[in-house]
Amino acid sequence: MSSTIQVDLGDRSYPIVIGSGLLGGGFDLAEYVRGDDCLVVSNDTVAPLFLDKLVDMRANRDTTIVALGGGVVGDIAGFAAACYMRGVNFIQVPTTLLAQVDSSVGGKTGVNHSQGKNLIGAFHQPQAVLIDTDTLATLPDRELSAGLAEVIKYGAICDADFFAWLEDNIAMLRARDAAALAHAIRRSCECKAEVVAEDERESGRRAILNFGHTFGHAIERCQGYGEWLHGEAVAAGMIMAAQLSNLPAVDVERLRALVAAAGLPVEPPAISQRDWMGAMGMDKKVQGKQLRFVLLRHIGESFVSAEYDAARLDALTGAAV
Ligand SMILES: NC(=O)c1ccc[n+]([C@@H]2O[C@H](COP(=O)([O-])OP(=O)(O)OC[C@H]3O[C@@H](n4cnc5c(N)ncnc54)[C@H](O)[C@@H]3O)[C@@H](O)[C@H]2O)c1
Ligand SMILES: [Zn+2]
Repeated sequence: MSSTIQVDLGDRSYPIVIGSGLLGGGFDLAEYVRGDDCLVVSNDTVAPLFLDKLVDMRANRDTTIVALGGGVVGDIAGFAAACYMRGVNFIQVPTTLLAQVDSSVGGKTGVNHSQGKNLIGAFHQPQAVLIDTDTLATLPDRELSAGLAEVIKYGAICDADFFAWLEDNIAMLRARDAAALAHAIRRSCECKAEVVAEDERESGRRAILNFGHTFGHAIERCQGYGEWLHGEAVAAGMIMAAQLSNLPAVDVERLRALVAAAGLPVEPPAISQRDWMGAMGMDKKVQGKQLRFVLLRHIGESFVSAEYDAARLDALTGAAV
């Protein structure tokens, strides 16, 4: 059983197919593979090695790259697909919850640099995203929770009803109930597809998808990548962003309770204020010298703003020292 969501981008539109049993034959991948060559990229593959492989096999523009794995594989394979011959076909087969609800959709690809997260990258939309929910059976609990951080993000930024549904179903999701997971993935992909269709290149509204990420990226950067998982850093970052918003205390509390129930951290690690500011100064959302944050108007509605309470930001980043 599967359902399909369309990402609406004119001649670069593509389907996201969600279901169980897809990789076992429930889906015809060949429909989206152009030409005769197909290169599957999975774990333990680094971009240079894999670009060399494309050259070795004398790949042409009809070659299709299939990214089978989590967000790291998807980002690297997608970036190589974007660069090689200025772009070859690309199919995402995400196998972590985080990749299924976020990184595989929307066409952002890239690699990290020691100076900052995702500093090197390109927009390159896939031909299709194939989400087999069965792949989640083997995912470690910690990785499942990290994916739930991005799921909670969608509820917080664009859908109050979905947020309330998550509050009611978080235990089912952690228990990997298939129907609950399929619903959460579907609703998350719908939110992302809608925002991306409106603003593919992040000149405006797409920035709301970075809710919690200004703080989250700073946490990842200060702790050294890999110490905190991306979703864990975003979880603590979302609570900080909610605290920076002019939000009723009860809403901040709801977010904190949901994040905790998802098995995620509600507090950032100890980081000095200087390190916070330094790390956030490298954030791509900085325009001029003014920091910009994604803030909540209420649960289910968000906006990007450079107008925030500076004293509150001071307290938030100072409190953790
Ligand atoms: N491009 C975007 O728009 C975007 C958005 C969000 C995050 N990201 C990036 O995604 C990355 C995080 O992705 P992630 O959370 O998927 O991490 P990941 O790719 O590192 O995968 C997490 C771990 O799970 C393993 N794994 C993958 N699938 C599995 C499965 N089905 N069963 C068991 N183990 C499995 C992987 O080998 C890895 O060890 C970050 O680098 C982040 O920057 C990109
Ligand atoms: Zn993220």
